[in-house]
Amino acid sequence: MTAATESPTPVPMRLGVCYYPEHWPEQLWAEDAARMASAGLTRVRIGEFAWSRIEPEPGRFEWAWLDRAIAVLDDAGLGVILCTPTATPPKWLVDTMPDMIARDAEGNPRNFGSRRHYCFSHPGYRAAAVRIARAVAERYGNHPAVVMWQTDNEYGCHDSVLSFSDAARDGFRDWLAARYGDIAALNAAWGNVFWSMEYRDFAEVELPNLTVTEANPAHWLAFRRFSSDQVAAFNRAQVEVIRAASPGRDVTHNFMGFYTEFDHHDLSRDLDVAGWDSYPLGFLEMFRFSEADKLAYARQGHPDIAAFHHDLYRGCTSGGRWAVLEQQPGPVNWARHNPAPLPGMVRLWTLEAMAHGAELVSYFRWRQAPFAQEQMHAGLLRPDSVDAPGLAEAAQAAADIASIGAVGVPPRSVALVFGYDSDWITGIQPQGQGLSALWAAFWCYSALRRKGLDIDIVPPGAPLDGYALVVVPCLPVASAAFTAQLDAFAGEIVIGPRSGSKTDEFAIPLPLPPGALFPATVARVESLRPGLMHAGKGWEIARWFEHVESAAEAELVAEDGAVACWRAGKRRYLAAWPEGALIDEVVARAARDAGLLLHDLPEGVRLRSAGARTFAFNYSAAPATVPASVAGDLVLGTRALGPAQVAVFASA
Ligand code: GAL
Repeated sequence: MTAATESPTPVPMRLGVCYYPEHWPEQLWAEDAARMASAGLTRVRIGEFAWSRIEPEPGRFEWAWLDRAIAVLDDAGLGVILCTPTATPPKWLVDTMPDMIARDAEGNPRNFGSRRHYCFSHPGYRAAAVRIARAVAERYGNHPAVVMWQTDNEYGCHDSVLSFSDAARDGFRDWLAARYGDIAALNAAWGNVFWSMEYRDFAEVELPNLTVTEANPAHWLAFRRFSSDQVAAFNRAQVEVIRAASPGRDVTHNFMGFYTEFDHHDLSRDLDVAGWDSYPLGFLEMFRFSEADKLAYARQGHPDIAAFHHDLYRGCTSGGRWAVLEQQPGPVNWARHNPAPLPGMVRLWTLEAMAHGAELVSYFRWRQAPFAQEQMHAGLLRPDSVDAPGLAEAAQAAADIASIGAVGVPPRSVALVFGYDSDWITGIQPQGQGLSALWAAFWCYSALRRKGLDIDIVPPGAPLDGYALVVVPCLPVASAAFTAQLDAFAGEIVIGPRSGSKTDEFAIPLPLPPGALFPATVARVESLRPGLMHAGKGWEIARWFEHVESAAEAELVAEDGAVACWRAGKRRYLAAWPEGALIDEVVARAARDAGLLLHDLPEGVRLRSAGARTFAFNYSAAPATVPASVAGDLVLGTRALGPAQVAVFASA
């Protein structure tokens, strides 16, 4: 059932590092570059925070130092990924237009003194960002060492997408006028008759913050869509000047983990390569994992964190090109607790990216900075330039990559459908603590991956041909085009709760959900506090339950008669939150029905196939053995895996 395709020109994954020449005396540059090259690194990412050194005063550019830095890196054979410095506008620029600063939901300014102190909607800052991007692109666009561009740095980091500034309000009004045409249409679409919220003019519409109680969810959804569009437009403006000045180079951006504030599928249409920044230990500590998992995987990261994002971002560009632009090399400085990775994990994370088809893994950062905000963040070197433990692991990974060679395109086996607006909708109207479409997607992904399956995370509307199984964890707005696509799909389908539960304007559709997604009516929904549950056979309905009326087969029924999963032909509808043993059971049934091979993996062991290779990873702190169901000759490692070890098989 699995269609494998080969990459037309397979190239082994490259390694790189994030470097800040402006942080170090110039005498160190050549030695740094030589050490990078001798560790097997071939890419170096620079420039994203260097605006105050490139343009220390308005219109006075200092290029000489950057010319020399790029020349030194080039001499060492390193390809340069050059970033636009727009995440850190200099003080003089902010002082020329103080209203470029974003405002938080309480109306407070997010002032100069760290980074990301700008509002995406401010036209003056947008123009300034394009101006500096053009200046850098025109200076280095045809430099032979410059192989790729990165726009800005981590759009949205530090909660910087939603801005409640005057610029955002003005931009929002224009956006609403363009979307709805006349104010009566907006009033009708949002249901503003409820609580007398009707407007007479677009100029009367405020942002949805600072209201007495919650603003209209349709108002919020429109603001989230507008804010997402602003990020994409801000990015596109830079991409256009880069493409004009630097033909033939790729453009990327570094996305973040567990982050949905803008639509990454939408923004990625302007990129060649979707990049992301992988900090598995920080993410484990900061996001919603159990205390048991936080302890068990404290030095490895939960086994599905990096993989989930690899598969998510690979689905963002039409060509499936993606990269890790920042890879955790040791302890970070920003999580609740910041342990060191288990020996071997930096290598394992690197090879996991390779297994998912990455073209680059770039470590953050070369040398630990002894000054400023991130002085407690590890690099590949210590502040005194002695090797930190990450460096030897990066060098080992480089040798491993050379011995494994190029891997092919990941196979089409399971498609997991995720749309960013789903997470906006569950965030705006959760109806119960912890109910998030993103996390529904993550736990479905994890359940599939624990069975050794290969998963692509795709946007609604992506082609589904070649897949054996499609899982839709939670898709409140399901377009007619998407439901038609499912109707045309021949494989097994699992539809998760709340799918089809909202119109595009955030209302309950008629006929009632899930509409054309499944032959059923969701008559009533309820969210369940911890402890309130329906017990099944080895699984339970917890957190969320839908009372469904349907003539379909009740496939999984709790002891008290509550139906967790309905089945009609090749479709299943899950009437409970997709978590725990329940989602394990549902995806196992669907995958078996789809003819997929399921593996019985030891705790912490995960698999990934790419082309003619199958990788096995041991994320557990204990030894584990790759089961015999994984066939093929060993290309790297052994079946018995110590903690943090990797084996690679030539697929049988
Ligand atoms: C990223 C960011 C980097 C650095 C790093 C530290 O979020 O892009 O500039 O701050 O985190 O882990």
